[in-house]
Amino acid sequence: MDKYIIEGQRPLTGEVYISGSKNAALAIIPAALLIEGKCRIEDVPDIGDVRILDEILTYLGAKVSYTDDRNTIEIDSSCLNNWAAPYEMAKKLRASYYLLGGLLGRFGRAEVSFPGGCDFGSRPIDQHIKGLEALGVKIEIEHGIIKAEAKKLVGCKIYLDVVSVGATINLMLAAVRAEGTTIIENAAKEPHIVDVANFLNAMGANVKGAGTDIIRVMGVSTLRGGATHAIIPDQIEAGTFMIAAAATDGDIVVRNIIPKHMEPLTAKLLEMNIEVRQNGDWIRVISHGGIQKANIKTLPYPGYPTDLHPPAAVLLCRAAGTSMITETIYDNRFHYVDELQRMGAGIRVDGRVAVIEGASELTGAPIKAHDLRAGAALVIAGLIARGTTEVHNIGYIDRGYENLDVKLRSLGASITRVSDDC
Ligand code: EPU
Repeated sequence: MDKYIIEGQRPLTGEVYISGSKNAALAIIPAALLIEGKCRIEDVPDIGDVRILDEILTYLGAKVSYTDDRNTIEIDSSCLNNWAAPYEMAKKLRASYYLLGGLLGRFGRAEVSFPGGCDFGSRPIDQHIKGLEALGVKIEIEHGIIKAEAKKLVGCKIYLDVVSVGATINLMLAAVRAEGTTIIENAAKEPHIVDVANFLNAMGANVKGAGTDIIRVMGVSTLRGGATHAIIPDQIEAGTFMIAAAATDGDIVVRNIIPKHMEPLTAKLLEMNIEVRQNGDWIRVISHGGIQKANIKTLPYPGYPTDLHPPAAVLLCRAAGTSMITETIYDNRFHYVDELQRMGAGIRVDGRVAVIEGASELTGAPIKAHDLRAGAALVIAGLIARGTTEVHNIGYIDRGYENLDVKLRSLGASITRVSDDC
């Protein structure tokens, strides 16, 4: 993997353009398997996880082509001839579970390895399996492979015991071509769930209620090809830049975002004494110093997103007073803490709570990303630290951020990507 070398203590200034949502793209691309035809997806982020999905789709027989900037993708699934995703590819990706929904909806069968992805402790998929079984799918798990088969998918009522983004979307995908109506209760409400429903409806599906906690999928016998869909802006990438601007005493305009999606973060930034202005499709974040402490609890949308927990922890290192972040979504999202401690952060973990003693000056150090959002948080730590920081393992960051270093340089940061052999 490459590494980033960052010279810190330069305020970010200027404008940055946000890419399409990673987590929407990772669901919409497998959803394209449902149609025996073509579709065109715009504003796809050019990130590692999308490239892996592209390889899997190609292996399954789909034709995948890109525009030169790799942000528009055309998928022709008419020649799809395989319902078994190769273990070596699928295991690299959390979102490989969407291949289950997509392939079941298309062929009534699917074989996919247990999903990989970032390590935040236990990440079960029992709600996906419970919902699929309720739809009439017979599931067997053998040698790390989930083998799923349904003679017929039949609509039903499914109550999710935990609010799960992945299970909500997967069940939508599997239910689109089922016989009758499927009702998903206690559904997740994240913006990308609405985006996936809009894509499915553009192909002729009948999904209602996405964005609320009850989603109704009225099954249709066929879907039509030819749809074009533009993916929504990435809420987490936008939040990462907003936090980076605040942490560096910067002043940036974040363009191509939906301010409504940013409300849980915006509310916290205002509480920290950071100025936030917004209009239409942009938000300006201005820090005048004097950052105040805040307590954050991660929750499903519209609560504060777990994926913006590690970046917020870095920002709170600069705040006056003691702050707390309570992580309620994952058992263990705290791998970044040891790395921040190496930089002099006053931060400790007690169960699911990070306690952050603010106003400590971070100093540059060699540090290692252990997952995607922790990696982004460490980059922000490098941006505020005195001296030079080396962030290793940045392959994790490449999985979910398009050109993070290029975008940060355009805002005045000193960040260079080099081979880790140097
Ligand atoms: N859960 C279960 N059983 C299930 C599914 C989930 O107990 O069957 C639990 C999980 O263990 C977790 C909680 O429910 O405690 C929420 O998990 P969810 O299913 O919502 O997460 P996910 O679908 O695996 C997606 C994003 C994550 C993001 C979460 C929460 C994708 C590919 N991943 O994961 O994004 O953290 O929703 O918003 O969409 C990231 O982008 O860096 C990332 C990790």
